[in-house]
Amino acid sequence: MTVEQGPRNNEQMPRPAFHFTPKRNWMNDPNGMVFDDGTWHLYFQYNPEGPDWGNMSWGHATSSDLLNWTEHEVAFPHQPGEQIFSGSIAASRDPGERVFTAYYTSAYDDGRQAQSRAISTDGGFTWQHDDTNPVLDRGSTAFRDPKLVYNPDADGDLWILVAVEAEARQVLFYSSRNLKDWVLESTYGPIGNEGVVWECPDLVHLKVAGTPDEHHWVLLLSTNPVGSKPDPGGSSMSYIIGNFDGHSFTSEMGELTRLDYGRDFYAGVSFDNAPESRTVVVGWMSNWAYADVIPTAPWRGAMSLPRELLLREIGGEICLVQEPAPFVRTWVNQDTGTDQECNESALEFRSSGHSIFELGWETANAGAVTLVLEGETESYVNITYDPDAREVNVARSGNAAEAIHRDFPSISTAKGIATDRIRLLVVLDGPLLEVFINDGTHVVSDLVVLGNGGVSASVTSARPGPIAIRAVDVTSPFSATVLDPVETDRSKS
Ligand code: FRU
Repeated sequence: MTVEQGPRNNEQMPRPAFHFTPKRNWMNDPNGMVFDDGTWHLYFQYNPEGPDWGNMSWGHATSSDLLNWTEHEVAFPHQPGEQIFSGSIAASRDPGERVFTAYYTSAYDDGRQAQSRAISTDGGFTWQHDDTNPVLDRGSTAFRDPKLVYNPDADGDLWILVAVEAEARQVLFYSSRNLKDWVLESTYGPIGNEGVVWECPDLVHLKVAGTPDEHHWVLLLSTNPVGSKPDPGGSSMSYIIGNFDGHSFTSEMGELTRLDYGRDFYAGVSFDNAPESRTVVVGWMSNWAYADVIPTAPWRGAMSLPRELLLREIGGEICLVQEPAPFVRTWVNQDTGTDQECNESALEFRSSGHSIFELGWETANAGAVTLVLEGETESYVNITYDPDAREVNVARSGNAAEAIHRDFPSISTAKGIATDRIRLLVVLDGPLLEVFINDGTHVVSDLVVLGNGGVSASVTSARPGPIAIRAVDVTSPFSATVLDPVETDRSKS
């Protein structure tokens, strides 16, 4: 992928190596993600003309492995009087037909937001927009982000379109048999916090791992603070496990649960038509609170790792878990792993900053464990598991973090981690940090400012351990190099 990308030309926030970034200019939400004939398509909210939000259009990239991406021509350029906001693509389920149907939000200059349609018969490269656009118009200024969902429970092909009335905090459910004529079936919400808009909904059908056919429908939702005193935590994603009977969604959980506990995972939606009915999600790794001042050039905006969503029964409860794309596991497993005793003298790994660390330990043995990441900048990241509070905290602090924006320094907390054995999979790719806790029951995704000159990763524990550690650098072309620890006599508390 690095061959296709522009240079890594920011000292504090180098270009990620194994995550998608556009060659140049502004990017936000993933759009129109669809798998077809061996190819993963990623379209995205894009400003073809500059590094700031505006002129919204759909960029386009493809990959055969979710790792190496090729960027293509802009698929849907903005038009006079109309920006192209977020939306989705569905691949025809008719084996004799190769048709992509896209729905996107037409955001007109007069403020109206309505849903428009386009068709591609060449696998997503050229498009015909309907003459009758917009297809769905409620005269609203906050009706957006249509996501097409195939309903496998239905008799024959039945498509659902979920969209939001953003300010009313409502998800709208439409149904159609031809992806053209829609019936409004129901609405869901408002629930949860006021003072936010709802954006980018998705409805995913997840199997409970290890059961023959127990499935639940899960509603995914992005929420962004608005108003005169917006929550400094900024934008975030949540989910609700429930049921969808073809007409309406009912929650089985009562409330919105965080999908990602970090500051920088937003607008995540799933690929249509993924192999084996898998649900693979990609999110935008930024936050509307400060996305416009992230100091990267000539690009601004990065996507998360692709993550598979699954349900697992853990301690009698159905939990949503997230697994990073399989190449992450392949790389980290290059290190066969060693049991290390750390205690107060840190065990240090000197990494490139495009690296993966995996730590596993019994809380009864090692107690609290901390991984500190430090680079060339005056900023550091502190990942700590506290067995008394049963939480993982990911803190980013220091001058370089403060210099970005007043809301950038942060502590993200994943609570309720109540197991005897803790596993942390820490994926660092330049400015992108994703921490998968206990095989993805909790995930924390944050932008970080550790610079471009390598990162030291130091592990300490409250008691001697042991801690099973794997550590690798990801090199280009993609493979992994095992990192050996460097003994230090530095004492860290
Ligand atoms: C979410 C969002 C969407 C909208 C798009 C505009 O990040 O605000 O609701 O369609 O971005 O770029």
